[in-house]
Amino acid sequence: METVKYLLNEDRMPTSWYNIAADLPAPPPAVLHPGTKQPIGPDDLAPLFPMGLIMQEVSSEREIEIPDEVQSIYRQWRPSPLYRARRLEQALDTPAKIYYKYEGVSPAGSHKPNTAVAQAYYNKQEGVKRLVTETGAGQWGSSLAFAGALFGLEVLVYMVKVSYNQKPYRRALMEAYGARVVASPSTETNAGRAILAEHPDSTGSLGIAISEAVEIAAQDPDARYALGSVLNHVLLHQTVIGLESLAQLEMAGDYPDIIVGCTGGGSNFAGIAFPFIGAKLRGERDVRVVAVEPAACPSLTRGQYAYDFGDTAGMTPLVKMHTLGHGFVPSGIHAGGLRYHGMAPMVSHLLQLGQFEATNVQQLETFTAGLTFARAEGILPAPEANHAVAGAINEALRCKEAGEAKTILFNLCGHGHFDLQAYTDFQAGKLKDFEYSAEEVAMALAGLPS
Ligand SMILES: Cc1ncc(COP(=O)(O)O)c(C=O)c1O
Repeated sequence: METVKYLLNEDRMPTSWYNIAADLPAPPPAVLHPGTKQPIGPDDLAPLFPMGLIMQEVSSEREIEIPDEVQSIYRQWRPSPLYRARRLEQALDTPAKIYYKYEGVSPAGSHKPNTAVAQAYYNKQEGVKRLVTETGAGQWGSSLAFAGALFGLEVLVYMVKVSYNQKPYRRALMEAYGARVVASPSTETNAGRAILAEHPDSTGSLGIAISEAVEIAAQDPDARYALGSVLNHVLLHQTVIGLESLAQLEMAGDYPDIIVGCTGGGSNFAGIAFPFIGAKLRGERDVRVVAVEPAACPSLTRGQYAYDFGDTAGMTPLVKMHTLGHGFVPSGIHAGGLRYHGMAPMVSHLLQLGQFEATNVQQLETFTAGLTFARAEGILPAPEANHAVAGAINEALRCKEAGEAKTILFNLCGHGHFDLQAYTDFQAGKLKDFEYSAEEVAMALAGLPS
């Protein structure tokens, strides 16, 4: 019998997250205060985040215990399955072995609840009443809305306007969990009003929605801000994905030669890849790791490695990262979760250290890959996940050309059940590729803080 799913029992779910900071040959550059430009300390972040998360942000402990209550909620859907994509392998006629870790089994349909539940837990512990956040495609917003419902926290979500209009059922899901959802840019904040005054038709961006959420959270002593990607603690929480994959591949008697993940802010990529990159850094096992991003928002492949703000209005601390400039507003591609001008500082640092390679793909190629995958494996991927699918298919086809039976692992970070309009439009020939506008990016990069 050929095994298709490698399943771990609940008692084999990881009890600690993996912190890659412990294995780095050099620490990442300091985070700077936006006003003084001096390195910040934990207290500077206290108006925005609970101390439990801030201490994880700066920790260099290799293993950080997952609180029992978080583990108990994780068990609603974790451990998630690892699939061997036997039917995709056949369809591609490749000698490669393809595995995918499927995070679409979570209640919100993606990897995002792995950190939403942890963030809600630490906020609740410290008496916070309300969480304010941004969301692109709505995956993160639904995840925080779900986590807020479990912990009795109010959730307010600024949703990027283009996605608010493209994905009304994501909004409905957030509201079903009890959250309030506002299209961003909105007239509720100074940041939103300033953008609308200059660009009344703005379709929004993650950077703008972050500015709105940070502004509201900073004014309300009972509220804190929650971010769905980019920060060290978010990447940390996602490492359950890679830790489970390690155990599941062991069940399969395999180890990846190549790992592929899509990158928006870097969290699902970090989740699957960091435990393996850690083994590489410790000199235990080698692996090639590939990050795939949209050609319309290519921060890793065409951005600059520089200090920049995490949001458009310049309210967040300055972090050194691969960035297209905080003023960059990406085109309205359907992979809303990948429309972010920057990249996680930890992921950026590892790229500088040569620990992985980055590539970009156009929107139409990603949807073609998604349909090839769905027609072989049955699961319809989220548009973001289609970037990883396209990357994995390209690697498998390279193996076919070279006649190499490599083992490929990729993160199928979410399903596309709320993205059916995008698939309908793709099949009707209505989607297009977006040329990366060099002039626009040059303008945005010119606005980098000196
Ligand atoms: C399904 C899915 N994949 C990927 C991403 C990108 O985020 P990250 O790079 O942090 O995983 C998002 C973000 O919303 C998402 O919803």
